Amino acid sequence: MVDSHWSPADIPGLEGRTALITGANSGIGFRTAQVLAERGARVLLAGRRPDSLADAARRLRAEVPGARLETVELDLASLASIREAAAPLAAAGTLDLLINNAGVMSVPERRLTRDGLELTVGTNHLGHFALTAYLMPALRRSAAARVVTVSAVAAAWRSGDLTDLMSERGYRPMSAYAKSKRANVVFTRELARRLAGGPHRAVVVHPGSAVTNLQRHTSTSRTGRLFVALASRTLMGSPDGAAWPSLYAATHPEAVNGAYLGPAGRDQTSGTPRPVRLPAGADDPGVGARLWRESERLTGVTFPVPQT
Ligand SMILES: NC(=O)c1ccc[n+]([C@@H]2O[C@H](COP(=O)([O-])OP(=O)(O)OC[C@H]3O[C@@H](n4cnc5c(N)ncnc54)[C@H](OP(=O)(O)O)[C@@H]3O)[C@@H](O)[C@H]2O)c1
Repeated sequence: MVDSHWSPADIPGLEGRTALITGANSGIGFRTAQVLAERGARVLLAGRRPDSLADAARRLRAEVPGARLETVELDLASLASIREAAAPLAAAGTLDLLINNAGVMSVPERRLTRDGLELTVGTNHLGHFALTAYLMPALRRSAAARVVTVSAVAAAWRSGDLTDLMSERGYRPMSAYAKSKRANVVFTRELARRLAGGPHRAVVVHPGSAVTNLQRHTSTSRTGRLFVALASRTLMGSPDGAAWPSLYAATHPEAVNGAYLGPAGRDQTSGTPRPVRLPAGADDPGVGARLWRESERLTGVTFPVPQT
């Protein structure tokens, strides 16, 4: 069942709820933060650049007077930074909504995180894997927490195959992105299996497409960048619309544990979110268990969720 007339205006009051959003200083994360703050949630804006986070908080306060905002310095390309950012909440806080939103795309050459992991998968999947693991004690203190992870239609691309997760056998920028986004879906399905029967949910979304800073690496030449900018502006949606799937997943009763949601519009960039088709193999428990083991091995982080 899908509520086909839903819009963010239908989100009920979120007073008393705490949400943490990664990549909240920009694009879809910023718009997600804005709506959750408007509904009364306490919003923790997480990102790697303190000045940009402070600027985002200033802009949000101008849009939402009285917004309850805090900033959290978090670099998903550093396991030490992730552990440090999560520590205060994990020790004594309660987290109702974790929105794993941050991401990089089209990184031109194979780069590594501080811990030696391929940067795109390291940031988009492994960073969020570790963050979710570290925040599990705070999520467990909530009566009904949700972990929402932002994937992309690229999750379904054939090049998103999860063998060679670190692109050691060859690096292609958009293959690394597709792998990271497939991993977001497989991670959520496996987390949902591990949360099944309890009060907490894991939901994965794709936002359609929107003009944001994500496209900044898409072309390295000036002409190429101009072409991408023009094409983006005519073919792609806005960050406001692209935030709808995350907002629906975070707040709607019909966003069930394990759901994969995307925009309903035929253009795939707008409209009320609805369940979308999983990438091939993404629902295979064997694939989920393998990714989980590999993610624990690569990060050295053991996930404290018992398999039921
Ligand atoms: N826009 C689209 O068309 C589209 C389509 C499909 C999926 N998505 C997904 O939507 C999500 C949001 O992207 P967006 O379009 O809003 O792009 P964006 O405007 O570039 O936002 C990405 C955010 O991720 C943050 N980030 C990148 N690396 C990080 C790191 N190491 N540590 C912490 N934060 C980091 C960025 O911070 P800085 O500002 O410091 O770089 C920024 O806040 C991504 O997961 C993306 O894959 C977007």
